[in-house]
Amino acid sequence: MENDHFSAFSAVQADKLYEQVYDYVQERIRRGEWRADEKLPSVRKLAAELQVHRLTVFKAYQLLKASQAVYVKDKSGYYVSPGSSLPAETRDDPIVLANVQGGSLSEIHQVQADYQYSKALLDPNLLPNHYFSEYVKKVFDLYPKVLGTYGSIQGDMELREALCGYLAAQYHFHLSADELLITSGSQEAIDLLARVLVKPRDAVLMERPTYSPAIDVFRGRGANIVPIEISESGYRLDEVERLMQSYKPRLFYLNPTFHNPTGYTIPAEQRKRLVELAQQYQCLLIEDDPYRDIYFGKKPPLPLFAYDTEGWTIYIRSFSKYVAPGLSIAATACRPPVMKHVLKARSLSNSGTPLLNQKIFLHYFFSQRMQQHLEKLRIALAIRRDIMEEELAAAGWEWSSPEGGFNLWVKLPETVSIDKLLVESVKQSITFVPGSICDPLRSFSSWIRLSYSYLNEQQSREGLKRFVGLCRMLERWE
Ligand SMILES: Cc1ncc(COP(=O)(O)O)c(C=O)c1O
Repeated sequence: MENDHFSAFSAVQADKLYEQVYDYVQERIRRGEWRADEKLPSVRKLAAELQVHRLTVFKAYQLLKASQAVYVKDKSGYYVSPGSSLPAETRDDPIVLANVQGGSLSEIHQVQADYQYSKALLDPNLLPNHYFSEYVKKVFDLYPKVLGTYGSIQGDMELREALCGYLAAQYHFHLSADELLITSGSQEAIDLLARVLVKPRDAVLMERPTYSPAIDVFRGRGANIVPIEISESGYRLDEVERLMQSYKPRLFYLNPTFHNPTGYTIPAEQRKRLVELAQQYQCLLIEDDPYRDIYFGKKPPLPLFAYDTEGWTIYIRSFSKYVAPGLSIAATACRPPVMKHVLKARSLSNSGTPLLNQKIFLHYFFSQRMQQHLEKLRIALAIRRDIMEEELAAAGWEWSSPEGGFNLWVKLPETVSIDKLLVESVKQSITFVPGSICDPLRSFSSWIRLSYSYLNEQQSREGLKRFVGLCRMLERWE
């Protein structure tokens, strides 16, 4: 008999009883009360302990299995999947416990180092810094009251109209200014969309590996992350379809062009089919596209958004990566039913991206100087990629050469412990991103992300020689 009086598992709460049991078990796994590969209490035992029906616990365990937080072994019971709990050092900290989903990219970015291969950011020396003041002055001349007013929640109309024209000319987007939102970077847009679209236990499809703060955002909303592999040739579309069919995900967050961290680009035929699948299974696609303009050879295929006539794709385009990172401008294109909710959610956190930033961006982005700068930037970044590849080739490591973006996704010898390597690297003032941070399943234990965008040629070579030497030393110790 279920006990209606058991305070933690009350039938009067909005969530169903088995969902409350799911949350209870998941939270205990997260806090490390049940560790990786440890057996969970049997269905019978937990049901007796919580005073609920066995079927309720069984349903909760099935849901945990579907979300890959637990696995079943030889019919002997349910076991905790590795990577489901927080790292030991954060488990006792109540603030970390409430906020962070394990080791995160921001923790690595806080490390001060001479050789920062962890930052997928542009070297500020590659920007035309001395010209920026001209644009600032121009904006103050044109809009003398620019600091005396808030921007609008949706973003400056003049900028939105100009960007609609740009997106139509470049990628054949059919958009009105009402369907475009300006945010302070794409991270804000991902967070807003997650707040509006995702409820606890909703399935969210994500690539593995993927942009790691997005994992934290969707996990933070209580999503059940369903991973799909991305490879050099794209996704296995039969697998995407199977996952859409069986998990009915609310959305698929994807970064199909010069993907972070791998650099892969999804081919055009797959893009069309993905949009069809999204329509068929009513799964929104959130296309995150910050690296599109950083191509070294030919231009990448059109965004998925260009193939979508039914409104299942939301397009996020950050300009922070190469225009002027300090302005933090991104644009999100989505159709009115979603936009309405996004604007409401945004009004609860701020009153819009600062107008000054939007106006400076507008005048610089559409200038000829910006276009000339972009061409030089592509050449400079391609050289940095080549230098990194030369150094890594000497080490005999594996990666596939990216045709754009900021990152190399590198496989190290399996005998090297990446955790140890990170500790030793930081001692030598070198940082990189461990692959496991980019994986919803916390695997990819021999992979790392190295960004070639932040260090100049000489620093990059120097640091890589040290890094390769360190790695060899660790290999010998194993
Ligand atoms: C795939 C991806 N999405 C979003 C972001 C965040 O961009 P922004 O600086 O515009 O917030 C990044 C930054 O590295 C990224 O690589």
